Amino acid sequence: MKADSDTLKSCCAIAYGNPLVELILGEYWHPGGPVLSKRLGQSLELTPRDTVVDVASGLGATARLLAQTFGCRVAGVDYGEAQIARAQTLTENHGLSDLITFRRGDAESLPLEDRSVDAVVCECSLCTFPSAENAVRDWLRVLRPGGRVGLSDVTRRGALPQDLNNLAGWVGCLSGARSIDGCRDLLEGHGFRITTCEDRSGDLKNLVNRVGSALVAWLSFRAADAAVAAWTADSARDLMESIGRMIDQGDLGYCQITAVRV
Ligand SMILES: C[S@@+](CC[C@H](N)C(=O)[O-])C[C@H]1O[C@@H](n2cnc3c(N)ncnc32)[C@H](O)[C@@H]1O
Repeated sequence: MKADSDTLKSCCAIAYGNPLVELILGEYWHPGGPVLSKRLGQSLELTPRDTVVDVASGLGATARLLAQTFGCRVAGVDYGEAQIARAQTLTENHGLSDLITFRRGDAESLPLEDRSVDAVVCECSLCTFPSAENAVRDWLRVLRPGGRVGLSDVTRRGALPQDLNNLAGWVGCLSGARSIDGCRDLLEGHGFRITTCEDRSGDLKNLVNRVGSALVAWLSFRAADAAVAAWTADSARDLMESIGRMIDQGDLGYCQITAVRV
């Protein structure tokens, strides 16, 4: 797949900014939803004294959950303007704007001061950054000494089928995914010590099943003349089944890792 870094970032932000994503996925755009986000906050031992940055914060659901559950302050950063605007509205509606801020920015160069946060959270997004190395290096910069990282991401073993190794595969978190060891190595290679590491592939399978059913239903209800469009209910079903098989075979998965800055 050939696309430059700015194109990948913009495509990803625009794709997730489509209101259809919220319609299909709801507010949490990662496997495991609020259950896994809360678990991440617990593993990070967040407290009201902590300031957290949620990197690639989407609609801000995790930021709200962490602020509500642990009393911490959260700064959400996302590349998508639509995501930031929607996250701000939802957060105002929940009366949480005193604890949470959102701003548009690039995960590879966060709009935050050096050593200004106690924890970095990044869910289902690292695999969509053209340079995960740049992003992890920036976590080191913004974290205070002893700061913690909570990462969850899609994992992949082996090559992707040709029809998934494209821009859609990148935006869909498949092309840029690395192995569980690759995720650990990335953190350890940048001066973090891993504190927990969990395989959460079952959460990915549940999400794929849920998204697959919603997509097929939506495509089935489209007007008849849309049936000639490239993506039909049948092709969506085939795609979701092939992703499901990859998860069953262990070639695709999801992991949650916490680490501390040493
Ligand atoms: C799969 S969604 C995950 C959103 C959120 N973390 C969640 O779990 O609900 C990926 C998000 O990453 C954002 N994103 C992609 N590339 C980015 C970048 N370079 N900097 C900041 N955000 C980025 C997209 O705009 C999108 O909102």
